[in-house]
Amino acid sequence: MKIYTVLVLTLFLKTYSADILSCGSSLGYSIPTMCRISGGSVADGESLQISNANANITTLSFSNTEFTSIPADTFVKFQNIKVFYVTNNNLKSFYGSSFQNAKQLTQMSLFTNQITAIPNQAFSLCSSLNKLSIYNNPIIDLSESPFAGLTQLQELSLEDLPLESFDSSIFVHLPALEKLDITNCSLRVIDKDFLDSNLNITEIKLYDNDIVTIEDGAFSTLVSLNYLDVSYNLLTSLKTV
Ligand SMILES: *[C@@H]1O[C@H](CO)[C@@H](O)[C@H](O)[C@H]1NC(C)=O
Ligand SMILES: *[C@@H]1O[C@H](CO)[C@@H](O)[C@H](O)[C@H]1NC(C)=O
Ligand SMILES: *[C@@H]1O[C@H](CO)[C@@H](O)[C@H](O)[C@H]1NC(C)=O
Repeated sequence: MKIYTVLVLTLFLKTYSADILSCGSSLGYSIPTMCRISGGSVADGESLQISNANANITTLSFSNTEFTSIPADTFVKFQNIKVFYVTNNNLKSFYGSSFQNAKQLTQMSLFTNQITAIPNQAFSLCSSLNKLSIYNNPIIDLSESPFAGLTQLQELSLEDLPLESFDSSIFVHLPALEKLDITNCSLRVIDKDFLDSNLNITEIKLYDNDIVTIEDGAFSTLVSLNYLDVSYNLLTSLKTV
């Protein structure tokens, strides 16, 4: 073992509890790009531990690992995280309490996991979040108030969900929303209250759904809209008023 390796390992053997940030990748102590802690130290191993010395990390990215949950105290221990990625993992669910103290967080990606539902008010502690990606998860139902409290959110990616419908009220809590992507879901109807409260919307992607009906007035409040894609749906005509 090289001296450098020993030093790096020593750094990790401090306070952060085991298995929380495990990156189930290769054996040995080389540095895989897919288990990266940018802005701080980098390591892998079956049970990665991070110490107080890493407390200033601003980007924490765990892609292609074996995570099944979001560690309970992540944002309490790392109070400066602005960008958080848990993508291409086996995340099945998470809790609003996972984001305790996540006030600094501006970007979060949870795409390509096994998430089946977004808990009610799941992101209510993420008051600075401006980008959220949860695409490619087996979410069949989005109900109650999954996005409550995201008052700064500008971009929301919901592509590739086997979602047939949702209540338009799920978007009422997103006053700052500008870009919404619901490409490749299974939506059939866009109702007239869709995005009623999202006056700053500039871009809507509804590409590749099964939409047969967009109710009259659905986009009538969206004066800033400059991009609308409803390609590959089952619409038969365009009505203008
Ligand atoms: C971490 O951030 C704190 C507060 O901003 C600062 O005082 C400290 O010097 C930083 N530590 C390192 C190692 O940069
Ligand atoms: C569309 O979404 C499904 C999951 O609902 C996924 O399996 C499929 O690969 C996606 N298609 C494309 C072109 O991304
Ligand atoms: C909507 O956009 C305007 C102009 O960019 C901005 O001043 C305003 O704060 C935005 N509204 C919200 C709720 O973010």
